[in-house]
Formats: sequence, structure tokens, C-alpha cells
Amino acid sequence: MSILSSTQVLRPGPTGLKRWLMTKVMAAMPFAFRLLRWLKPIPHFGKTYAVTRYDDVREVFATDPAFGVTYKDKLDVIMGGEPFFLGMANTPQYQADTAAMRKVVRREDLAHLAADVEARAEAIVAGAGGRIEVVDTLVRRVTFDFLADYLGVPEPPGGDLRVWGTRLFEYQFVASDAPLVAEVEVIAPALRAHIQNQIEKRRAKPGTDDVLGRCLTLQKAGEAGYSDAQIRTALMGFIVGGPPQPPMVVPQAMEQLLRRPDALGGAQAAARADDDALLAGYVREAMRFDPLAPGLPRITLQDWTIAKGTKHEKLVPAGSTVLAAFASGMRDGRRVPDPERFDPRRLPHEYIHFGYDLHQCFGIHINNATLHLMLKPLLKRQNLRRAPGAAGKLRKSGAFAESLTVEFD
Ligand code: HEM
Repeated sequence: MSILSSTQVLRPGPTGLKRWLMTKVMAAMPFAFRLLRWLKPIPHFGKTYAVTRYDDVREVFATDPAFGVTYKDKLDVIMGGEPFFLGMANTPQYQADTAAMRKVVRREDLAHLAADVEARAEAIVAGAGGRIEVVDTLVRRVTFDFLADYLGVPEPPGGDLRVWGTRLFEYQFVASDAPLVAEVEVIAPALRAHIQNQIEKRRAKPGTDDVLGRCLTLQKAGEAGYSDAQIRTALMGFIVGGPPQPPMVVPQAMEQLLRRPDALGGAQAAARADDDALLAGYVREAMRFDPLAPGLPRITLQDWTIAKGTKHEKLVPAGSTVLAAFASGMRDGRRVPDPERFDPRRLPHEYIHFGYDLHQCFGIHINNATLHLMLKPLLKRQNLRRAPGAAGKLRKSGAFAESLTVEFD
């Protein structure tokens, strides 16, 4: 089977001893972070530093002139050299490009997107016959389908957007091995060509009100920021940076709920009462116990003293790598009260799921409006429980959630 028509969304992950070891390391991570926050909040190994306390994580994210993003080189490969704002410093171009996209990804869309996600999830759960695999069958399907429709990027002929998007995401944020690079060299130009094709098709036959349609309307009106290359690059960026992630964090949240019968009961009650705000609180809080990743990288652009004026201040020299460990920050009792307690009513600032400040997730409002609704139909079902055996426990493959099967009456 050619790379482009592959249906394998995840590449085979580590097996045997390596897999066992990785699982143990990840399981020990919260404890290790707890020790570090207490004893050595800014550890470093050579020129690689980590910040583990909430305030320091926010300082790194918020100090863009000193801590730059590391994404540009790989983005250039994916985008064929066209600039995408995730790879930029806080420049006029960053401001212009994000502002252009904010005109077409609108707050008024959120209610419709929420209803769409809930309806898609309900249809899948209703057709599942009392047993469903949450990662791929439910969350990945719903996420790619609703975002493809919203953005205006349909399935590529002969290809699978879930595979292409996830592979490019893995390259951008997780790995750089030769087999992956070889796949990216085929998938990236194919996705660019697919989106360019869509742009041309839609320009010839306008009318649909989705993100691409809105971009083309503004292009026709002569507004800056909507050249074909800019539209294509932004849509690529959304597909690579967006839909691969809910199938990671939403099943991880489900697993955390299944581990806590009280929290699961509360989330089920909120789902059945259609209390979406409270349900969102449950899912957001469950995600805090197993978020997207331990942290995100930055590169130090100038010497900078983190946590200046405190006992643990640390001078980080230019050219260092800094891991902003937001998973640790969200469990720092200095800012997150009683952090080991499951509390669905925490305040928004207690979470750093979607980054902070300059590069904070462009899809944050879409996420806040939709992630919990992917689980809502399942949580409404009676007698929701893990499937027997290994299938009923969340299985991960490297950084990715791989499978979790549940049953219901
Ligand atoms: C569970 C879902 C998601 C999670 C956990 C997530 C997480 C994040 C995080 C942590 C960042 C910050 C990266 C950094 O500072 O280094 C980010 C940025 C970004 N996200 Fe998301 N994201 C999600 C969904 C989405 C969706 C649905 C979209 C688009 C439709 C999206 C588009 C973006 C873009 C474009 C950026 C770059 C923003 C910038 O550079 O200003 N994300 N996301």
C-alpha cells in the first residue's frame, strides 16, 4: 500500500521492554515533577532546562523575546517554505496572519460547532451496539469530520486526512526518525496540492459558508492576508495542529474519569442534566491528570534569569532549550489549590492545557466548546464501564492514545 493511501493512523509504537519502560516513566512523571517543584524547580542537564512551577511555566510562555518557539524548520518542510504563524516570533506578520484568520474563525460559530459535535458523537454511540472504542471510532472520527467540514477541507481523493494530519503532527511535535521524514516528504506536498485544488474548485463555485469559503470571499474583495499561499498554509496549519490532538487528550480524560467513580458519576449526572458547562469542567479537570504532554519546548534567544528575585532564580544562557512543563505547572499547589483533588469547578487560570500568551492555542475556544461533547453521549448511557480485559484500559503508543474500549447498556 502506498504511503498516501495508508489507513494506519498511528505508526507501530515501541513494544516489549521499551514499551514497558516508557509506560513506567510516564506513570512516574507526576511524582518526579512533584519532587522537582519542591527541591529543584528548574533542573538542567547540560543546555536543556525544565521549568516545573506554575509561575515559571507561565513566565517562559509569556516571555517571547527570550524564549522563542522551535517549530520553524519543520514547519518549513510541511508548508513548502511558506511561513505559518506558529513558527514566528511576535512580529507584525504574526499579528497580521493571526488577525486574518480570526476574521474567518469566528466566535459566532461555536454554538453550531458544539451542536454538530454532539450530534456526530451521538450518532456513533447510538450505532455502536453497547461497546465502543473511544480513541479512533469515536473521538478521532468526530474530530476530523467536524473540523474538515468547518474548515472546508474534505478527504483527499485516495487518501485519509486522519492519517496525513496525524503523521504531519507527529513529525512537527514528536519525532524525526528517517522513516517518518520519508513519509512526510510524500504527505506534505500531497496535502498542499489537495488544499490548493480545493481553493481552485471553490473559487470556481463559491457559496459555501465555511472557513475556506470566507477566506475566498475576502480574497475576492481584495483584502490583504488571503493569497492562495496564505489560505493554504493556514488551513494546513489547522489540520496539522488541530484534529490530531482531541483523540489524544479526550480518551485520556475518559480514562481518568473511569479511575475515579465519584468523578465519573458527577460527569454522568452533568451529561444527563445537559449541564454542558459543568460537564466541560469535569473533562477539563480530568485532562489535568493526563494532559497532552509533559511540556512544550522553547529555545532561549538571550540570557534570561527565570524566577528572578526568588530563592530558585536561575540564569539560563542563550541557546539553551527550555521545557515549559505545563503538566507540572497545573499540579503546583502554589497556584492550583489542593492540586491532587479532582475538582470540576476550578477557575480557568488553573489550567494551561492550551499554552499561554503569544502562541496560546488558536483553537482554544473551539476546544472549550466541543471536547466534552465528544464524550457526552457516552456519559449519558446507563452502566458505562470498562470493557473486560486489556481492551478496557487506555493503551498508549508513544505520545499517542491508541485505544480504550468501554461498554454500556
Ligand atoms: C485537544 C485539542 C488541542 C490541544 C490540547 C491544543 C494544544 C495547543 C497548545 C498547547 C498550543 C501552544 C503551542 C506552543 O505554545 O508551543 C497550541 C497552539 C496552536 N493550536 Fe492548538 N490544541 C488543540 C486543538 C486545536 C485546534 C482544534 C486547532 C485549530 C482548528 C488548533 C490550532 C492551533 C494553532 C494554529 C496553534 C498555534 C497558535 C500560535 O502560534 O499563535 N489547536 N495548541
